[in-house]
Amino acid sequence: MAFGRITGWAIDLPERILTNDELAQMVDTSDEWIRERSGISARHIDGKVSEMSTNAGKAALEKAGVKPEEIDLFILATTTADKVVPATSSIVQNNLGLSCGAFDLNAACSGFVYGLVTAMQFADSGMEKILLIGSDSLSTFTDWEDRTTCVLFGDGAGAVVIERTSEQPCFLGWDLMADGSAADLLYCEHGGKIVMHGQEVFRRAVIAMENAANAAMEKAGITNDQISLVVPHQANVRIIDAAMKRLGIPKEKAALVMDTTGNTSAASIPLALIDSIDSGQVEQDDLLLLVGFGAGMTSAAAVVRWNSAGN
Ligand code: ACO
Repeated sequence: MAFGRITGWAIDLPERILTNDELAQMVDTSDEWIRERSGISARHIDGKVSEMSTNAGKAALEKAGVKPEEIDLFILATTTADKVVPATSSIVQNNLGLSCGAFDLNAACSGFVYGLVTAMQFADSGMEKILLIGSDSLSTFTDWEDRTTCVLFGDGAGAVVIERTSEQPCFLGWDLMADGSAADLLYCEHGGKIVMHGQEVFRRAVIAMENAANAAMEKAGITNDQISLVVPHQANVRIIDAAMKRLGIPKEKAALVMDTTGNTSAASIPLALIDSIDSGQVEQDDLLLLVGFGAGMTSAAAVVRWNSAGN
């Protein structure tokens, strides 16, 4: 059980919105097909990871009332770094005026939960304040002539400030997994575009989410009926519905933003989490289940007791 708690949060989305109708003019698809098969109506594109992360990070620090120089560690979960070298976290660290260690973490769409688990271990070992950002620009690596992938992806960033608390633990259980034997199902070569075997990713994603979520709940010592809100990776509403069914949790308890964001990879879970917080769906002491899967194939889940009030 870890003692970090989330005290500040913010998102950033690029201005450019690409609608399904616009996509239907680019490839052989339709608004109806995309909405029915994925649950997506629009997505933000043309984002740059360093810029989105800087904007979200700055606003999250302000929300938490934490000065940049107070941050002890910065973790940037991304799979679409600005450059191969240096790590984009270094660029963002400088933009934000941080004076601490910084590193990129690539676990694809599971990246934010991987980052959260990592941050909580540092909080447990005595670190006071950590900045975690999930940010991706999938539009940069999308093949805009491939209708099986280009309708799914978007760009965005979500940032959280994690502060150590000596009170009740907030991070109750977690699970991390990777299955590298499935790496060929979803990949992007250097200088290339995203290639995905959608049906097989779909099938494995449902199972991976179920396994990760159950393992995290078991480690937290809680049962599915105690979960107030599930914050799943926003890849496809049909994947989420299927996973919720297998977990025995009503699908109405799933946070959803993919309608307007598409699949934003490492940004997806913080975007959905922060949308739920800001729209008043999360109350003090609620148990949240964050669960993601992604290329690799990675999967990750965490049970968090919501405690922004600091008890
Ligand atoms: N518009 C219209 N028709 C399409 C489109 C499109 N955009 N894309 C595919 N089709 C067609 C196919 O060609 C196929 O036609 P056919 O029957 O004549 O061969 C038909 O629609 C059905 O295709 P399927 O692939 O069976 O469609 P499916 O219901 O599986 O949906 C989708 C495809 C949306 C890609 C789905 O498989 C999916 O969401 N997979 C998971 C993707 C995912 O989660 N990726 C993210 C992983 S996380 C990360 O790390 C980035």
